[in-house]
Amino acid sequence: MSDATCLLGDCVRLLSQQPAGCAHLVFADPPFNIGYKYDRYDDRKPKAKYLAWADEWLAAAVRVLHPHGAFFLAIGDEYAAEYKVRLDALGLTMRNWIVWHYTFGPHQSRKFGRDHAHILYYVRDPECFTFNADAVRIESERQRSGDRRASPKGRVPGDVWSVPRLPGNARERTGHPCQMPEAILARIIAAASNPGELVIDPFAGSGTTLAVAKKLGRRALGCELSPDYHRAVGERLKGIA
Ligand SMILES: C[S@@+](CC[C@H](N)C(=O)[O-])C[C@H]1O[C@@H](n2cnc3c(N)ncnc32)[C@H](O)[C@@H]1O
Repeated sequence: MSDATCLLGDCVRLLSQQPAGCAHLVFADPPFNIGYKYDRYDDRKPKAKYLAWADEWLAAAVRVLHPHGAFFLAIGDEYAAEYKVRLDALGLTMRNWIVWHYTFGPHQSRKFGRDHAHILYYVRDPECFTFNADAVRIESERQRSGDRRASPKGRVPGDVWSVPRLPGNARERTGHPCQMPEAILARIIAAASNPGELVIDPFAGSGTTLAVAKKLGRRALGCELSPDYHRAVGERLKGIA
């Protein structure tokens, strides 16, 4: 069973209308508060105001997380530490601090370029959670070098993920200014949820999470503040059988 829906509006309000504990996986890629140009959302707020809002949406997102669920948060350098402190305080347990190394970062001439973002991986119950290792295995160094000791199954990826950002002409590009590659979501959803389970994305954006969840046979629910982005997510989902 697979269905994916994007709701229009503020995620704090919309998530409060969902049953507590309904989502086996929450993936959140909130605005980073770095002045990104969205059509509706103002991405340059005073720090205290941004963090007060972070407390609100984190509480709303953690409320819908299943007792055996996983929570992934994508964030930039500026607020990664603040989010970690908050997720710890909400009683979740960190499994990995993943670095998304993207090979298509903006050029800098007065410092080193930034080629990464952070993906914080938490679970509600460290004794009981889903991790489908076999669903995300990759070719190992031993396999690559022809070492006879190599496991034919490959290895579970480490915590640095090298995945290019989407260039403007990528086939999966939708026009949203801040779209994540499907490859990132495919790994997260395959590892941390099972077919038929509900995946929630409070900040749907271009709908990457919902699109990948639908392709992988999960149910998916997203929230998006912008009517134009929301409409585009609907179109994207219609194109997936
Ligand atoms: C970083 S983007 C998400 C991109 C998404 N991961 C993707 O791959 O397309 C953040 C999105 O959150 C939306 N947004 C901002 N505040 C919101 C809120 N309170 N509720 C729902 N959506 C919000 C913005 O309009 C923007 O589209």
